[in-house]
Amino acid sequence: MPETESAAKQSVTSDAATPSQTAADKVADAVSTASVRQAIVRSKEIEEAIDRDPAQFRMLTGARPTGQLHVGHYFGTLRNWVGLQNRGVDTWTLIADYQVITDRDVIGPLKERVYGLLTDYLACGIDPQRTTIFTHSAVPALNQLLVPFLALVTEAELHRNPTVKAELEATGGRALTGLLLTYPVHQAADILFCKANIVPVGQDQLPHLELTRQIASRFDRRFGRADRDTPVFRRPDALLSEAPLILGTDGEKMAKSRGNTIELGFSSDETAKVLKKAKTDADRVITYDPANRPEVSNLLMLAALASERDPHEIAAEIGDGGGGKLKQVVTESINDALAPMRTRRAELAADPSYLESVLKEGNEKANEEADRTLTEVREAMQMVYY
Ligand code: TRP
Repeated sequence: MPETESAAKQSVTSDAATPSQTAADKVADAVSTASVRQAIVRSKEIEEAIDRDPAQFRMLTGARPTGQLHVGHYFGTLRNWVGLQNRGVDTWTLIADYQVITDRDVIGPLKERVYGLLTDYLACGIDPQRTTIFTHSAVPALNQLLVPFLALVTEAELHRNPTVKAELEATGGRALTGLLLTYPVHQAADILFCKANIVPVGQDQLPHLELTRQIASRFDRRFGRADRDTPVFRRPDALLSEAPLILGTDGEKMAKSRGNTIELGFSSDETAKVLKKAKTDADRVITYDPANRPEVSNLLMLAALASERDPHEIAAEIGDGGGGKLKQVVTESINDALAPMRTRRAELAADPSYLESVLKEGNEKANEEADRTLTEVREAMQMVYY
């Protein structure tokens, strides 16, 4: 998730102005409106069911450890995940480290990034007592599911996957590796090994969920247990969030390389500094008008999300205060909202052995679950020999 440039990152349905078409937008366009509409209806039903009985749900969230989290991630997705955890959903959170070698050649300081992401998660309210946090690479049985799963998909299906196509485009002429081509199958293994039945994703990831359900039912049809009424895998649903699209301080897509992000780990001074440079427009009267005033509206949306208020109301209060006043309001609301997380983040960062123990316990739990699932898979496939 902290990835900035590559495809498939905007988990959004938004009325805010769209920047130039990114690879992610193209994926979203390619995902048929019918399946999106269906997923929205289904997501509403699930939300209601969670209110009634959260314990029937296991949620898997996944993100790649590619950089620091910023306010877009927090207000766009993370806050929602924490909310679901707190409502009593059994939450599993994958730090998708193998995905890092899927879409790039340079791994970068991976260990540091994994711990950075873990620190951000805990600072934002992910509670290791209630959420199992784990990494791909530490769970061998999860990865082993790829072998039978690969037997259940065709090359043509993989080539048609819009996310694979977009990732390929985003990497600018990089050769299509076997891992990138089969990455949706890996993602299916992430979801199926732990028998998650809800996966919060953006529109662009809907084809992965569809493929995951196909793999689950093909497995049961082809290798399934003698007792057809007890399938090995659950059929997971996407949980689409209606997170607003949050742009960078210059009105473009948030990307570290553009220097337009507000990272969760920034100090309040750093936050003030980036916002001081934020782009506004010449009209001193501040109004919330995403179509005609994308930069100003984006700043208002940030303030609104941070203070859980209505952007129109904030605009009315600023009135003819102009860009200066707007920036001051945004800076204050973000700094107020993030202050407790920043304090917590600093405490956590000072305690590496605690962070290690959280990851170790999460990985142990994920391994137990993956081993159990792999045993069921082997039994179904008649591969238990003694
Ligand atoms: N593919 C997702 C992304 O690009 C990350 C991810 C990996 C994921 N495995 C997952 C998301 C399983 C949901 C479920 O961000």
